[in-house]
Amino acid sequence: MKTQLITNPSTVDIKKCAEILKNNGLVVFPTETVYGLGANAYSEEAVKKIFKAKGRPVDNPLIVHIHSIDMLPTIAVNIPDIAYELFNKFSPGPLTIVLDKSESIPGIVTAGLKTVAIRIPSHPIALSLIKEAEIPVAAPSANQSGRPSPTTFEMALSEMEGRVDAIINGGNTEVGIESTVIKIEENSLTILRPGFITEDDLLTVLPEFFKINNTINTKKIESPGMKYTHYKPKAKVILCEKDLINIAVEKFKNQKIAILTHKAKLTNNTVINFKNIEEYAKNLYKTFFELDKNNIEVIIAEKVMEEGVGKALMNRLKKASGEKEFIS
Ligand code: TXA
Ligand code: MG
Repeated sequence: MKTQLITNPSTVDIKKCAEILKNNGLVVFPTETVYGLGANAYSEEAVKKIFKAKGRPVDNPLIVHIHSIDMLPTIAVNIPDIAYELFNKFSPGPLTIVLDKSESIPGIVTAGLKTVAIRIPSHPIALSLIKEAEIPVAAPSANQSGRPSPTTFEMALSEMEGRVDAIINGGNTEVGIESTVIKIEENSLTILRPGFITEDDLLTVLPEFFKINNTINTKKIESPGMKYTHYKPKAKVILCEKDLINIAVEKFKNQKIAILTHKAKLTNNTVINFKNIEEYAKNLYKTFFELDKNNIEVIIAEKVMEEGVGKALMNRLKKASGEKEFIS
């Protein structure tokens, strides 16, 4: 398939891409989290193409993207007030809420579930594209299934060129990790996938009696996608406590290694030092991509505290490493 590559999209370009979506084609577009692989969420035929282009298991449901809260009732039913409050506070932005789905959304989008995951992205290109298309857009991250999500145009090209109708260049994404996915129950809210919007952020909106559950802690798998391997570069990723990095480096000295650090102060040409947790999260996938290009065999990644955005970052690092941690 010939893929149109679009940089600095004009109004005409956005119209063209919206037409592709309306005609059940595939468009890769930037969001503030990661690049998405979009298709018409109303069309089974279009959504089938997403699963094919990604090699994604069909039991892993997709997030439906809309441009405004006004579109909510067209794709969800029984919407609780708290969902409106959360969307009002955090949208457009990196928050996805799972709600009861309306009849308009075909079962292929939700992998047969009665619920649908919904997000209003804040990237201006994403918003104008969805607005122009006038349809909800189903969009998983634009990577081959199992791989790190694309956070740069170059990564999006490398994952999807030849498999989609168009790819829009939006430069590097702002957040760098996928949205926080939550599900609202009667008096509680469950974080199905941690992200840039943290538990503390959510608490600022929730009434006091509301409890927050963390599926990651309970090991209960509610977000079907969480059971698959994810975010894996070609290099082997090994999680490592700050104080053990030097011992780990010694152990892997016969392989081509790179070290990702945050607190550990190491000086070595294999070390990539991130200023803070946000920078670590923002640049993680991009760094994986660059290290793969340089044929790095082992990535030693310093662990971070599982609080705030650190929770989301550790979730991605654990998956990327297959939960492998260095023990001396
Ligand atoms: O930031 C993001 O969320 C990006 C951008 C493109 O918006 N999208 C993204 O989509 O990360 P994807 O398909 O890679 O991840 C969607 C996650 C999966 O873990 C999936 O299992 C979960 O959302 N999910 C989708 N629908 C669900 C539902 N009805 N119930 C529970 N989990 C659901
Ligand atoms: Mg994904």
